[in-house]
Amino acid sequence: MTSTEQPTASEPSRGAVTKAVIPAAGLGTRFLPATKATPKEMLPVVDKPAIQYVVEEATRAGLRDVLMVTGRNKAALEDHFDRHWELERALEAKGDLVRLARVRQSTDLGNVHYVRQGEPLGLGHAVLCAADHVGNNPFAVLLGDDLIDERDHLLEAMIAVRQARGGSVIALMEVPPESVHLYGCAAVGPVSQDGGDASVVRVTGLVEKPDPADAPSNLAVIGRYILDPSIFATLANTPPGRGNEIQLTDALQERAASSGAGGGVHGVIFRGRRYDTGDRLDYLKAVVRLAVGHHELGTDFSSWLTGFVAEKDSTAP
Ligand code: G1P
Repeated sequence: MTSTEQPTASEPSRGAVTKAVIPAAGLGTRFLPATKATPKEMLPVVDKPAIQYVVEEATRAGLRDVLMVTGRNKAALEDHFDRHWELERALEAKGDLVRLARVRQSTDLGNVHYVRQGEPLGLGHAVLCAADHVGNNPFAVLLGDDLIDERDHLLEAMIAVRQARGGSVIALMEVPPESVHLYGCAAVGPVSQDGGDASVVRVTGLVEKPDPADAPSNLAVIGRYILDPSIFATLANTPPGRGNEIQLTDALQERAASSGAGGGVHGVIFRGRRYDTGDRLDYLKAVVRLAVGHHELGTDFSSWLTGFVAEKDSTAP
């Protein structure tokens, strides 16, 4: 069997999760004009581009083989994860070892590869573009709009569920019912009572961005997935869905209903710290929350922020 063929019922995929796929081909229209000439993934969150947090999260979980699915105008991503010899030499010559370490941080993370999604046909299509690179192994998908606090170990927990139960694993988070329409939404049931971990559920159905009245729960799909490679065959046959795009959620709905090889979907309910950078307001909140907790800037920024809020309140009309 070649690396790109799919497993059959008698040949389940059992490999370890070692690869991460990061879809990064979006146009970033919600951030225009900031994203007219700069990929949205490169917008700084405190002192690092958003995408660096995501690559760091993957490598912390042991996934040092990272594939970015990019598109037009994304050259800055490749530059960011590549060496910058002139800059490094200049900092070395000045003896500025602190900044030198910061510059090297993004290149020392792992092996970052790139594939281009020729047309913006949806998240499901972006994941399908990873098929040749991933081959017949389970793999992680990390969406760049969601940042997970480094003190929380969501990806590691999801990988453990995949190792124990096979199939695919998605991350779920409770959201207010009025926000469900912004996410994929899951219907869930209990898992067989052998593990006793209440945060792990069996996913029985999935719907992409439902109208509130049709939402099966208030459990939203957040941007972390461990996918069985059988997802590729499913995605190849998934017709365009919501927004006329090929939806990963639709392919996972089919995997959830399948009892064949690589079928079954579990959910890990995440109750930790997630920073949404998907639109301008959420992005601002994420920057402030991460700045307050920053190891160098946090103390000074917090005291400035406290004073700023007090002053703002006292001058409010
Ligand atoms: C995507 C997925 C959606 C998921 C969301 C998480 O939507 O399609 O199911 O809930 O990411 O951030 P997007 O936000 O790209 O529209």
